[in-house]
Amino acid sequence: MCGIFGCQSLQPQNLVEKTLQGLKILEYRGYDSAGIAYNATNQLKIIKAVGGLERLANKTTTPPPTNVCIGHTRWATNGAVSVKNSHPHLSADGSIAVVHNGIIENYQQCVTKLAKHGIKLKTPVDTEVIPNILYLLSHNKHNIHKYLQGQYVFCATEQLQNNLFLAKKGSLPLYIGRDQQTIYISSDTLALPQSVNQIIAMEDLETCEIINQQPTFYHNNHPIRKDWQPFNQSFVASDKNGFTTYMEKEINEIPAITQRIITAYQSDPTIRTLQRQFRTQLKTVNCVHLCACGTSYHAAKIIAHIIERELHLRAIAHISSELNATTLLAEPSLAIVISQSGETADTLAAMDILQQQNIPIIALCNVTTSTIAKRSQIVFPLLCGPEIAVASTKVFCAAVLVGCLLINDYNTISCDNLIKYTTKTLRNARKLLPTPSKIPHQIFIIGKGINYTLALEAALKIKEVTYLHCEGYPANELKHGPLSLVDDNTLAIVFGDDSANASAEIQARGGKVVTLLSPDYQHNPLAFVSQIIPAQIFALDLALSLGNNPDKPRNLAKSVTVL
Ligand code: F6R
Repeated sequence: MCGIFGCQSLQPQNLVEKTLQGLKILEYRGYDSAGIAYNATNQLKIIKAVGGLERLANKTTTPPPTNVCIGHTRWATNGAVSVKNSHPHLSADGSIAVVHNGIIENYQQCVTKLAKHGIKLKTPVDTEVIPNILYLLSHNKHNIHKYLQGQYVFCATEQLQNNLFLAKKGSLPLYIGRDQQTIYISSDTLALPQSVNQIIAMEDLETCEIINQQPTFYHNNHPIRKDWQPFNQSFVASDKNGFTTYMEKEINEIPAITQRIITAYQSDPTIRTLQRQFRTQLKTVNCVHLCACGTSYHAAKIIAHIIERELHLRAIAHISSELNATTLLAEPSLAIVISQSGETADTLAAMDILQQQNIPIIALCNVTTSTIAKRSQIVFPLLCGPEIAVASTKVFCAAVLVGCLLINDYNTISCDNLIKYTTKTLRNARKLLPTPSKIPHQIFIIGKGINYTLALEAALKIKEVTYLHCEGYPANELKHGPLSLVDDNTLAIVFGDDSANASAEIQARGGKVVTLLSPDYQHNPLAFVSQIIPAQIFALDLALSLGNNPDKPRNLAKSVTVL
């Protein structure tokens, strides 16, 4: 979380606008507040605003051409959401500005050290120690990792210097890209302009100084050589394709993604080879451990169910943060991690535990250049393109489908039926699950087996974007407690046609029940993959009717890179 963007050029240019454009695309990483710093008439000019990027853009009218600009979009971890606490943070003498993502764990120690040099900080934000330590290090700044502990990436610029200084410890992403005129820094390649044709990824314990568009790299304070890699930005991330929200756009992409995945997993030679490798590996283990968070965890739970049902092999889905060193992982076993972003800190921590126990890790990942992908033995791409809306929709369906296709080669009829069913479900979603005319004060979503997991996912989506209390529950379990909450202002959504008793119990207490009938699984064994779509559309419409922005739910960020 938190997005860093910056640029530098030999000739003064509209780098402030370019930075604002980059930050706009990175806004999914945090949208509490934002800020920029650029060199203007020999001094660092800082502009900050609380709220979305528009607020910052409104404060940044007619910026001058400049040779350097850095910017940040924040998801607050320590220090309240305020202009003062937002980035960039300045050194006490005002000569160094820093934008930062991550956590400085020895913050208190740094504060004490700085105090000994007479430097008092103005905010409670850990970032503020960085420009001050850089100031103390002066010409020895490539040694910065010795002084800072934690997981971080940051980008600094100095008054009068027009330089950029970058550092990375741990796994948070930071990329350098270039085109003919400009060099760019970004937390995500997604935000790099289409003109960028070469990139370099910063790695653990590296620093980099960019002077006159020329980067020089150090690893642990020793100079290293790094080569530019070819890069081709093949999409326009900011394009909503005629939809008013990314969430709606992304849900509407599900049929095309379903088709894309089926084609790739049936006929792409590289994917077929990896699939064969995976299946061979599966034959050697007694248990599969799946690890993921949030929506990806729900996909993991469904895939675990399918592995047990189809392969009669034990499969356990773990919430990544609940896996710990004492969790009993049966031997021999294999792990599958699932992640849209590939940067989720809780899942990376689970991977540490799996690796300590020598369990091979397979990733199902949408961002195949991500840290989770890099740390896995085999990576199966989810082929969704960028997912911008904070609430994950298309990637959930993609992960479930890829999981199914790894386990089984479904015949052409089943695959064709899934594509037809997905298109039809999307078209009829609002009829299948209409937005209620009166807003319920709570929503229960219930089902059994896979339908229970779909209920969990539907509930997560609804609570995320509507801020209404919504709970997914196993249908028959309702009577063992939560039924006491049901009243005549309760809405229950029932997945499947096998929860008649629970439905009747809700109705008997005045609750309203809407049932989403299960498709004919005999005829269409993959249909559950897109059965979630009506609930996704329901969440979207309800959020809009409540005046919420479904793309940026309050308090959340897309890529959760903190533990
Ligand atoms: C919910 C949602 C989150 C993510 C979770 C894991 O709509 O998007 O629950 O699923 O933060 O993120 P990834 O999949 O990037 O590891």
